[in-house]
Amino acid sequence: MYTQPELKKIIDTSLVNLAYNHESERLTDPVKYVLSIGGKRLRPVLALLACNMYSDKIDEAVIPVTGLEIFHNFTLMHDDIMDKASVRRGFPTVHTKWNVNQAILSGDIMAFMANDCLLQSPPHLLQKVFRIFNKTAIEVCVGQQLDMDFEKATIVSRDEYIRMIELKTAMLIAISARIGALFGGADDREADLMYEFGRNLGLAFQIRDDILDTYGDKKVFGKTTGGDIIAGKKTFLYVKAMEIATADQRKKLNELYTAGNDPAVKVKEVTDFYDQLKIRAFAESQMEDYHGTAMDFLEKAGAAADRKIELIQMAGSLMGRDH
Ligand code: IPE
Ligand code: IPE
Ligand code: MG
Ligand code: MG
Ligand code: MG
Repeated sequence: MYTQPELKKIIDTSLVNLAYNHESERLTDPVKYVLSIGGKRLRPVLALLACNMYSDKIDEAVIPVTGLEIFHNFTLMHDDIMDKASVRRGFPTVHTKWNVNQAILSGDIMAFMANDCLLQSPPHLLQKVFRIFNKTAIEVCVGQQLDMDFEKATIVSRDEYIRMIELKTAMLIAISARIGALFGGADDREADLMYEFGRNLGLAFQIRDDILDTYGDKKVFGKTTGGDIIAGKKTFLYVKAMEIATADQRKKLNELYTAGNDPAVKVKEVTDFYDQLKIRAFAESQMEDYHGTAMDFLEKAGAAADRKIELIQMAGSLMGRDH
């Protein structure tokens, strides 16, 4: 069995070895930059762990799942434009360091580089993997549009919020687990269990991301703390607060969220409001529920228990259990 650090190293090497045949350095420099400034490599490592759960051979999967990481980085580059984010992984975002047009085009290039990697799937999996991937790529875009639509909405229900994060975040994590399992020779039933494992883990992961956006340490998180509040994002914290608040409190939160105050003041006031309603604990409990459901699906998967240890550990560390 491979360990997570070993698999991360394999992916990092695979990313460094990518060939760039494009004419313009103005487009490839931002790609190389974003791929070199860090990142957990969660999706490809998850895929390789899922593969390794069913098979000792992971070699054929490495380049295709590298495509999942490249696609993820493409979504981040465009997401940072949409979210007006200036820092990612502790470094300036591409549209800040270069400009918006370069970030759009470099992101586009990455989407197609991802395709090139996935095209290297073995013939018996190629069509299947491509169908799964393309469907998800569209779903991510739909989720991102919902995320933008919700910025303008005052009330977003919990179901609407969950659907939005399912599309924008959980689907890619879900198919990483599914595609990995398929590379390991798992049948469709097994691959579906791994998909559900990944989907629930992805929901938990995005809720944790929402929590850290308000409560995280910028140095560890690598993004601007309070960025979601400043951008008017309908995060789990906001949605839950609106759900349990009185009519007066709802009015107040809406005022705080839409006021054109100094950003630092706005972040402090909204955070104080969340603290008053103990929203962080609600969010953590919802995150734990999804993590628990993810574990249930992993448990149902047919591989031996000792082949699941790394995945269990990884899922725990994503929930912040190791620091
Ligand atoms: C960030 O994803 C975007 C979300 C879905 C919350 P990651 O937290 O996996 O980002 P990196 O790749 O490790 O930086
Ligand atoms: C990101 O959601 C989802 C995608 C990139 C598709 P966020 O906007 O919360 O991600 P971060 O916090 O910027 O990483
Ligand atoms: Mg976003
Ligand atoms: Mg963002
Ligand atoms: Mg976020």
